[in-house]
Amino acid sequence: MRRCDELGAISDEPGCLMRTFASPAMRRANKLVGSWMRAAGLQVREDAAFNLLGRWNSTQRGAKTFLLGSHLDTVRDAGKYDGPLGVLAAIAAVQFLRERNVKLPFNLEIVGFSDEEGVRYQTAYLGSRAFAGTLTAADLARIQEKQIVRARRQRGEFFGYAEVHIEQGPVLEKNNSPVGVVTAIAGQSRLRVEFHGAAGHAGTVPMNLRHDALTGAAEFISAVETAAKKQLGLVATVGKLEVAPGASNVIPSTVSLTLDVRDRNDSRRLAAVRSLKIKANAIAKRRGLKIIWTLVQQTAAVQCDKTLMRIFSKCIAQRGLKVLKLPSGAGHDAAALSAICPVAILFIRCKGGISHNPAESLKTADTRAAIEVLTDFIQTLAKAD
Ligand code: GLV
Ligand code: MN
Ligand code: MN
Repeated sequence: MRRCDELGAISDEPGCLMRTFASPAMRRANKLVGSWMRAAGLQVREDAAFNLLGRWNSTQRGAKTFLLGSHLDTVRDAGKYDGPLGVLAAIAAVQFLRERNVKLPFNLEIVGFSDEEGVRYQTAYLGSRAFAGTLTAADLARIQEKQIVRARRQRGEFFGYAEVHIEQGPVLEKNNSPVGVVTAIAGQSRLRVEFHGAAGHAGTVPMNLRHDALTGAAEFISAVETAAKKQLGLVATVGKLEVAPGASNVIPSTVSLTLDVRDRNDSRRLAAVRSLKIKANAIAKRRGLKIIWTLVQQTAAVQCDKTLMRIFSKCIAQRGLKVLKLPSGAGHDAAALSAICPVAILFIRCKGGISHNPAESLKTADTRAAIEVLTDFIQTLAKAD
């Protein structure tokens, strides 16, 4: 928990926590977390995608590797647990095992992924997708750091990935459970929508002769909310708006907005995106605006691995805790890793379900329970190997 505090002070922006992909703060965070990995006895390096890697090699020849981790980037004005907690919990578990001279029949690698949130380029999972080798040409076209493709790892190298993460929702708290096992991760579509109208004088252009990009965008944002409220399971968010030229006495000529659409059901999510595009076009047509609709990224829903889930459940039960299974509405690096190996996530209860907010908070006792369960999980894997 102290390490979370220390890491939470490393930010690109004064006064709030923000660490984005490949930023100076991320480089400093990797240095600090790398020193903790080293103290736990791991071999540390950073890959070409700025992922921080700490490795514990098994003495057994030809052993496969199990991955543990989460991300070290954050949203803007973030809490200090979303991501870092999973990396630090993994380091704590490894440190505990090494101090007790435990030998594993497999290699263990802890990864602090460099981009799960996607704040820098709006594309999430740059680090974990570079690692999994699933970046597309479109992803690479959007970013400056083209070398990240070199972070790609061998497909057959890993037999699983497990991530500890705060729940970011209220279910565990409501059910009085410190930890829970994730069943599936919702799919997401990230888009950028531009509305183009005409700038004009705020005092002279009559209301019925305007092509105001912002009022068009406002109507669309409202339609997004209505659509998501009508469809159970669907959530949709406009999180960022850029208005140009941006003066109090100028009619806005251009608005660029981000749109984030999620659902556990992929076809329902895709249908919602299609219908929102039709709505945006209709609004634009009626208002004499032009629309540029760009799909930035989409990730399908991912099922967690039944065997790994069973092991987590068993370890939770053996600690005398209630076993609760729940889906994740938030995205996780596990979604990207599922392209190359079975994945599992252990959730920790967080206060009020609050996340993506500096008020993120969790109990030390719950963190301890999660680390104990993770430690048992690794040892159970070793027995099953
Ligand atoms: C990450 O927190 C995401 O779900 O976007
Ligand atoms: Mn996260
Ligand atoms: Mn997040």
